[in-house]
Amino acid sequence: MAILEVLKFPDPRLRKKGVAVKSVTPELKTLAQDMLETMYSFNGIGLAAAQVDKQVRLIVLDTRPRENGRYKPEELTDLERAVTQPLVIFNPEIVGKEGKTTYDEGCLSVPTYFETVERFDKIEVKGLDIDGKPIQFTTDGLLSICIQHEIDHLDGKLFIDRLSPVKSMRIKSKIKKFGYPDPSHPESEEELEAELAKEEHQL
Ligand code: NI
Repeated sequence: MAILEVLKFPDPRLRKKGVAVKSVTPELKTLAQDMLETMYSFNGIGLAAAQVDKQVRLIVLDTRPRENGRYKPEELTDLERAVTQPLVIFNPEIVGKEGKTTYDEGCLSVPTYFETVERFDKIEVKGLDIDGKPIQFTTDGLLSICIQHEIDHLDGKLFIDRLSPVKSMRIKSKIKKFGYPDPSHPESEEELEAELAKEEHQL
């Protein structure tokens, strides 16, 4: 197991598209496990292979609410609870979608930024699990949002691309100009706010 480097916007490698896997090799299985370890180490709830500079269609997720290390399944929707997490999906594909929802999304590749993004509420997903076996399920809630966010990564897309053009451009130029606030030295009010925001979910 290993903790991998997570690429950050504006790294151009985040724009590369993932290629579908033909079969789940031992190397890909190890990559999935390393990605889960990496995601947990940064308190993320989802991670896509593109974020660790691997151009394969692979996402890992664990959106179960936790408090002091304890899982709180009572906070999940019925559909979310029916899915076993952590979840590894190779070649994830949305085959059904219904309704709309919004959520304040964050991302380990765009740390300290949180913006409201619109997604489908309920989705049907298919793909392959960590053993290469076909899986297919319907879900909603945070798990549905997170899967849509991670699949975007496989297509080279970030949540800040999904904002209004003005907002998207403002955030991107700010990051390009100033980088990210250093959370170990929160000096300005803005940096303190960013530090607090880190407690929220980074997808
Ligand atoms: Ni992300």
